[in-house]
Amino acid sequence: MTRELSELRTLWYMGAKTRLCEDFLDGAVRDLLTPGKTLLDGCAGTAAVSRWFAPTYRILSNDVQQFSSVVASAHLEGDESWRTQLDHLDHEQDLASAIEENTQWLTRLTPRALALEDSLLDRVIEEGSGKAGDRGALDRYRSFVAQAPLPNGDRGFAAGEEGADVHQPLASRLEALLDERRKSQVGSPSMLCTAYWSHVYFGLRQSIQIDSIRHAIEAIPHADPHRTRKRAIYLAALLHAVSVSTSGTSHFAQPRSIERDPELIAVVKRRKIDIAQQFELALEAILREWSHKPRLAGNRVFCSDVQELLDPGSPLDDEEVDLVYLDPPYTADNYSRFYHVLETLVAYDYPELESRGGSLTKGRYPKQEIRFRSDFCSSVRVEGAFRRVAHACKERNSRLLISYSTDTGLLTNRWAKQGEQQPERRFRELLLEYYGHVEIREKLLMHSGQGDSNRSVRELLLLCEE
Ligand SMILES: C[S@@+](CC[C@H](N)C(=O)[O-])C[C@H]1O[C@@H](n2cnc3c(N)ncnc32)[C@H](O)[C@@H]1O
Repeated sequence: MTRELSELRTLWYMGAKTRLCEDFLDGAVRDLLTPGKTLLDGCAGTAAVSRWFAPTYRILSNDVQQFSSVVASAHLEGDESWRTQLDHLDHEQDLASAIEENTQWLTRLTPRALALEDSLLDRVIEEGSGKAGDRGALDRYRSFVAQAPLPNGDRGFAAGEEGADVHQPLASRLEALLDERRKSQVGSPSMLCTAYWSHVYFGLRQSIQIDSIRHAIEAIPHADPHRTRKRAIYLAALLHAVSVSTSGTSHFAQPRSIERDPELIAVVKRRKIDIAQQFELALEAILREWSHKPRLAGNRVFCSDVQELLDPGSPLDDEEVDLVYLDPPYTADNYSRFYHVLETLVAYDYPELESRGGSLTKGRYPKQEIRFRSDFCSSVRVEGAFRRVAHACKERNSRLLISYSTDTGLLTNRWAKQGEQQPERRFRELLLEYYGHVEIREKLLMHSGQGDSNRSVRELLLLCEE
């Protein structure tokens, strides 16, 4: 795979290893594993690592988040007949009429809001560039957003109040429609994104596009022999489109505030992005990768807690796993919170949203109890999680390669705070309780987290064998 193809970012994602595959991971994996053997990518995220190694190794890819498994599946799973089928994949034929049907439904619910959004987005951009004769568009956009109906039965504005009518008839019908959808997810219109996140992470027109593409993917007839594979590839393209078009940053922990003018202008520029176009670009990129990059046969994708997957009695029992690559979260931030929009879009099950003191949270998350909480994000459980994985890998006769951060890792950081001068050594000693040989490799990396992109951190690799 060329560097250009490997850098195709399936999702904008914290901790993605895209930049590290060629210069850091490749050498370590090749030192541990001969070509043709089986590599399990245990916390696959964007599937960047799985995709990088797919030409050389058989790949088993796993992540506890469904959206990640969808992305991995779209890129990795499929036999020769699917490859042939890909040359004839016609998304217009598969999706266009159902997209149109759902778009019309939702447009009928929001005719004035759509027209007003279109004109306000342009005016805000003009005003932001100093060209506008008409001032005040920024404030008009703010009140338009504040008036939008909320998915917990509240309205932005009371009916009859000035400005409230622009969101009709959606505002009056939202509660009843959501009740219907929660009882029967298959009916029309599909409206989860419009109801939950329009004017929050996306514009209204963008939300309608997202819902309508999602609706059309689910409407692919069950009689289509390629339905499962088509669903994965179209969903992966939609996830990419959503991920690069959010008006927030690269994650969904909370939407960007529009109080300050520069932020509002940045948000509005992103709300002009055409989701359908991003969807098509992403689809083309996935198809290009399939046609340019050879893959070994027999790849499989799982969606499981990696600890359970490695324990005896899991679907891995019928597999020979030669190397487990483990790239868990480094910090206390759970990916299920940062990427809840992607997960909910895949499940599309209209989950109950979290509220505090009777009001929805800014981030519009599903309730906490339905979001996965990783042991790797708990300072109390993280050491036990690494031990359980190391033990299970050794029991399976698999080598183990761990990515972690020497400086920002929850576990290494805790040891450092306890006075440990070389936390990476302590990590090595922990792994030596399970393996006969553990090698440490380190690389200095410019951090690509949130708002601290100028800080360098030491990226750690632990190679465990024998
Ligand atoms: C640092 S990211 C992985 C990035 C990935 N290597 C890439 O290049 O995109 C950590 C991932 O671990 C997943 N995760 C967290 N806890 C997990 C667990 N217990 N089992 C499986 N996956 C888990 C998260 O959903 C997230 O996708």
